[in-house]
Amino acid sequence: MSTPAYGPLLGLAEEVAREAGALVLRRRDERTITVAATKSSPTDVVTESDQASERLIRTRLLTARPDDGFLGEEEGASVAGSSGVVWVVDPIDGTVNYLYGIPAYAVSVAAVVDDQPVVGVVHVPATGETWTAQRGGGAHLDGRPVAVSDCGELAQALVGTGFGYAAQRRAVQAAVVARLLPRVRDVRRMGAASIDLCQVATGRLDGYYEQGLAPWDRAAGGLVAVEAGALVGGLGEAPASERMTVAAGPALYPLLQELLAELGA
Ligand code: IPD
Repeated sequence: MSTPAYGPLLGLAEEVAREAGALVLRRRDERTITVAATKSSPTDVVTESDQASERLIRTRLLTARPDDGFLGEEEGASVAGSSGVVWVVDPIDGTVNYLYGIPAYAVSVAAVVDDQPVVGVVHVPATGETWTAQRGGGAHLDGRPVAVSDCGELAQALVGTGFGYAAQRRAVQAAVVARLLPRVRDVRRMGAASIDLCQVATGRLDGYYEQGLAPWDRAAGGLVAVEAGALVGGLGEAPASERMTVAAGPALYPLLQELLAELGA
């Protein structure tokens, strides 16, 4: 598939992300937020809005493109499809922010071909900000091109991170961040991985790392970051995975990777 062929996928992804965003924002404004279930821990919640958003996205995408595959955060089981395109969706990334009324939550929609995201949309309903990217076509925030920062010094770097829900994982993450904090400008924990990756893309963060991200947390935001000039991977030569996701501009990336390895992340 050549780059221009991704245009229709991007248009569909953006349309559907905005529709789902309107749905979750309306429910938030009406304060009709109900916790439907918990997942990995009692604080890892799924609201009825997550479920309604995923249903809307899945129905809209698979009605428009019935042969595509689908992997969403809330339903777990994936639909394989036969077209070679798989949609990877987080219907509300930053669910705890959503629950508390903190505006940093997003609808994240990516189209993946051969295990590589080719289209990504991260839409933040509460602010209206929408990042879009297609492979080889650059990254945009509300239609304007974005680029990573040129920071090349750890001591000057504003670094984002996040924490999983399980206590055991958090203990490890806390130990790493405690030793990282004195080595960088400062640390931010905003609570939505897709937005963190887009903040790197926009130069609002110099770098970002997190252990435990699922494909739906990083697919769309990771492509936005790459298309804005970031390097996105794991530790060493490893690709980004649940084990570790690191994102930063090219000057900072190897320094952040080395620091994380030194800290035993
Ligand atoms: C979570 C957020 C959070 C990150 C967690 C994710 P969810 O996604 O992205 O920032 O630290 O690892 O699970 O559960 O709100 O969709």
